[in-house]
Amino acid sequence: MKKLIFSGIRATGRLHLGNYLGAVKGMLELQADPDYEMLFAVVDIHAMTTPYDKDKLSQQTYEVVLDYLACGLDPEKSMLLVQSKVGDLHTELAFYFSTVITIAKMQHLPTFKEKVKQHPDNVTMALLNYPLLMAADILAYRSELVPVGIDQEPHLEVTREVARKMNSLYGLDFPEPKRFATKGEYVPSLFGEGKMSKSVEGSFINLTDDLETIKKRLAKTPTDAGKSDGKPASSGVVALLDMVALFEGEDKKNEYLKQYMDGDGIRYGELKKELAEAIYKELQPIWEKRKELEKKPDYVKQIIEDGAKKARQIASQTLAEVKEKMGLL
Ligand code: TRP
Repeated sequence: MKKLIFSGIRATGRLHLGNYLGAVKGMLELQADPDYEMLFAVVDIHAMTTPYDKDKLSQQTYEVVLDYLACGLDPEKSMLLVQSKVGDLHTELAFYFSTVITIAKMQHLPTFKEKVKQHPDNVTMALLNYPLLMAADILAYRSELVPVGIDQEPHLEVTREVARKMNSLYGLDFPEPKRFATKGEYVPSLFGEGKMSKSVEGSFINLTDDLETIKKRLAKTPTDAGKSDGKPASSGVVALLDMVALFEGEDKKNEYLKQYMDGDGIRYGELKKELAEAIYKELQPIWEKRKELEKKPDYVKQIIEDGAKKARQIASQTLAEVKEKMGLL
């Protein structure tokens, strides 16, 4: 039997290079592995836990669906799931999970505290419950591995606690899911400070950027004189070299490093031009596939319906078992 792996991306609009390398590429690696069956979810209900625009949510959800497919999600091999299509099952399961986790535990999560700081006027029950809905996403399919970024570790810790408690209190057999780390996990911001993020304008490259746009964006990354002179490289240069490693390989990065440390120095104009071309080469097929998909809404809709149907079968079995073991009639 293949192991099911659940992974989700929030429905907050188009994916950028950071999502692609940090999350989607890892999922595609697993899709190619015959031991696993992937479930690619767009978690639109999670997107409602912070302020959102009701007139845009469904479109944003659809954009992520298209991006998933354009990046290489193969509906013959994997499931595609729009979370709200099975929202009844996931939210019900999350409610049962909420009976074994204390409020104090949830309030102390660093992810919760961060969101409270970002949106002090929106500290809702939905926000507090975010990790339990995520636990429901994962455990509904008994997913043992979860390909997400390191920032999601506290949520996986809650998921494991839910699993342990449900198992010991009610005799269920949930696995304790682990994070699956991918290679390009940390994609630096183009500014060199922090990571590439949708919420920081100018920090990212979109999956649909053409070569000129990528060049323009890279032009903004701050550099230095090109030589070490005994000082460590600036954060912008480190970011550039990290991206060189991701798109042109470790060897290329080491070549540049050598030039930087004891060679003639790096010529950033050339580095950026080559890097832009390497990024574009990887993105172009995605871009073209996406344009094709935009012309086939019925095909995409069918994939969404098929995925929901398959997911519903699995999740409803889990839910039935939980209800029975927890004593519901
Ligand atoms: N919290 C995840 C994030 O922000 C998104 C998510 C929701 C998720 N449910 C999930 C990821 C289940 C993996 C599995 O990235």
